[in-house]
Amino acid sequence: MEVSPNTARMIDYWLGGSHYFPIDVEAAKVCAGVYPDFPTVFRELRDYIGQVSRYIESQGIDQFIVFGSGLPTCGNVHEVVAQAKVLYTDIDRANIKLGQEILAENSNAGYTFCDATNLDTLEQSVVAQVLGSIRRLGMVFVGVAAFIPDEIMTQMLDQLYDWAPAGSFLALDFDGEAGIVYPEMLELLDSMGAHVYMRNPETIRALLGRWQLTEHGILPVEAWQADLSAKPIEASEPVFMYGCVVYK
Ligand SMILES: C[S@@+](CC[C@H](N)C(=O)[O-])C[C@H]1O[C@@H](n2cnc3c(N)ncnc32)[C@H](O)[C@@H]1O
Repeated sequence: MEVSPNTARMIDYWLGGSHYFPIDVEAAKVCAGVYPDFPTVFRELRDYIGQVSRYIESQGIDQFIVFGSGLPTCGNVHEVVAQAKVLYTDIDRANIKLGQEILAENSNAGYTFCDATNLDTLEQSVVAQVLGSIRRLGMVFVGVAAFIPDEIMTQMLDQLYDWAPAGSFLALDFDGEAGIVYPEMLELLDSMGAHVYMRNPETIRALLGRWQLTEHGILPVEAWQADLSAKPIEASEPVFMYGCVVYK
């Protein structure tokens, strides 16, 4: 299998994981050379996955599908909501193979192919095998929207809304506009084939369609807390990533 650098394996390297290839380390070092805070930003993003997973579980959900999962390590969904069934998905064949190896002994979690922009690519038999018969779902779509243009995001969120059972929750993140300050970083990601779309709460809200926002609203990911009674961390400007949870 020919392997190109993948943002998820670069994240695994930054988070202190062990599932990446030399080509990913090389790309991660170049990126961190341009923007040294990358490892911190992605730690915050993984902590956000923990917060949203706990929140969705607290709403009585015990079946999760993760889109654009990357590596199921370092505080990912099944490690946070260990009693739930979790199906990870991605389009990157190397990530899928690594994920399947990591989860081989785990009877509550599995990993399969799905292009999040086309749910028809998700094998229903695998969904049933890992999750059982679907009730209300928790869905996690983190680290992917930044690379998807508005028209496709709108279509995807619409298709997901029709597909998900009523009472389902979906957690998302979007890149904020802080990247503008780092044009070299955007150029570098572009050169890796990862064009970044930057958004603000207003443009994010416009993409959500029929999905309803939870009371948390749209917050910088580091300020998003599962427990609404917890005092939100002061938002630091500029915002790198916004997060929100929506429900049907
Ligand atoms: C920046 S990484 C984020 C990984 C993980 N969610 C995290 O937060 O660490 C983006 C991941 O999305 C995957 N990806 C990109 N486009 C996708 C698509 N259309 N459908 C599913 N996965 C996709 C990439 O292969 C990569 O694993």
